[in-house]
Amino acid sequence: MNDTNVTWHEHQVSRVDREAMKGHKGCVIWFTGLSGSGKSTIANTLDHRLHQQGIHSAVLDGDNVRHALNAGPGMLRDVHGEEFAQRFGLGFSAIDREENIRRIGAVAHLFAQAGMIALTAFISPYRADRDRVRRAMPEGDFIEVFVDTPIEICETRDPKGLYKKARAGEIKGFTGIDDPYEEPTAPELQLHAGRNPPDVLADEVIAYLRTSGIIL
Ligand code: PPS
Repeated sequence: MNDTNVTWHEHQVSRVDREAMKGHKGCVIWFTGLSGSGKSTIANTLDHRLHQQGIHSAVLDGDNVRHALNAGPGMLRDVHGEEFAQRFGLGFSAIDREENIRRIGAVAHLFAQAGMIALTAFISPYRADRDRVRRAMPEGDFIEVFVDTPIEICETRDPKGLYKKARAGEIKGFTGIDDPYEEPTAPELQLHAGRNPPDVLADEVIAYLRTSGIIL
């Protein structure tokens, strides 16, 4: 680290202490996939299932996080002014998506260190950005879940009408239309959300968590 006068502190209550209290391990379940693929729906279904079983989880998802922590310039301008909005507001260019994913990765890692199961639902279209988040965590903490829904299905669903706008040229740089989505090459799980309902897919993730000893 090049920044001076910044020191890392160990906390008095360790991650192991927190996990022992909760009775399960912390981790990050990183859902990645196209807009409309079902990431948030599956994450929310899974969150509900885990909560019912007394497991401490939380969902971070793209649209919500982009309303606060990773707000765009338009949302920041009124309160913070133009210079701040331009410097820290995030849009959908490759570099802004990189910073979006970096911040979320750091937050999700804090959740895992607090003994929680963080469920993140971001398109996270670039392999390098996802891999950087993975490398920043201890082995086994980052569980990549590819929500593999063909773009034809996502586009038919089009829950927010964004594909329609992208096809009409009203949104530029829309993932899958005129911006890339790089599929994971070795995800821990691949879910076929075009073929199976969210509760079946949530069960697939729960089975993985049991097999890998994260939950009992
Ligand atoms: S990323 O690529 O991971 O930084 O994107 P993310 O933070 O997950 O935000 C995705 C949601 O933003 C809306 N949206 C767009 N998506 C893709 N490309 C462009 N240009 C774009 N503009 C707005 C869209 O509602 C995404 O929500 P989901 O839930 O994925 O459908």
